[in-house]
Amino acid sequence: MIQVLCGTDIAIEENSMVCITGQSGCGKSTLMHILGLLDSPDEGSIELFGKEVTSRAHDTAMIRNRDLGFVFQFHYLVDDLTALENVALPLMIGGKNFRESSKRAQELISWFGLSARQSHYPHQLSGGEQQRIAIARALANSPKIVLADEPTGNLDPDHSHEVWETIQRLNREFGQTFVIVTHEPKLAEMTSTRYVLAQGVLSKL
Ligand SMILES: Nc1ncnc2c1ncn2[C@@H]1O[C@H](COP(=O)(O)OP(=O)(O)O)[C@@H](O)[C@H]1O
Ligand SMILES: [Mg+2]
Repeated sequence: MIQVLCGTDIAIEENSMVCITGQSGCGKSTLMHILGLLDSPDEGSIELFGKEVTSRAHDTAMIRNRDLGFVFQFHYLVDDLTALENVALPLMIGGKNFRESSKRAQELISWFGLSARQSHYPHQLSGGEQQRIAIARALANSPKIVLADEPTGNLDPDHSHEVWETIQRLNREFGQTFVIVTHEPKLAEMTSTRYVLAQGVLSKL
């Protein structure tokens, strides 16, 4: 057994933009999976909005759909669905009908300046556009926190900049809370709270 995290504590303030850096393999993705209730820690607990959630496995899927948004290094858009349908998907999973879901998805895509692209399939979009659609999808259900694991890790500098600008605007204009893992020190400097993960311990910079 490998011990990845030990004594890692983090509290995320509402409306903040928190950044986590650290060497490859140090456990950043593991930590994000735990924060996102995709994995459970062997010890310790997760409290979300004042409620302990680790032990309540039965409703974690609902919490993930309703309260958490995920953005990964690879966009993981569904290839056979258009941009619009991809963004509408979490809304439909959350119980909204097709018409309501499409309307909300259209509004989001329009905010991202990608309305002309909404009927396109993922392979017809640039890397930056794919990632921005993935962010729109993460925002569909107005999550309290968006967890982004190296969201620009697979992009060239121009597209990377596009995605960062978008994330910054969402935080500034709507107070959207983000926890972001990144390797790019310049981008990390844009965030309000910075942590570095090393030897299983998270330290505030
Ligand atoms: N599914 C897994 N099974 C076993 N070990 C894993 C698994 N995923 C990651 N690890 C190990 O856990 C450690 C942390 O990985 P990870 O959280 O992916 O790091 P990072 O995201 O910082 O690069 C690494 O040593 C990695 O090899
Ligand atoms: Mg990782």
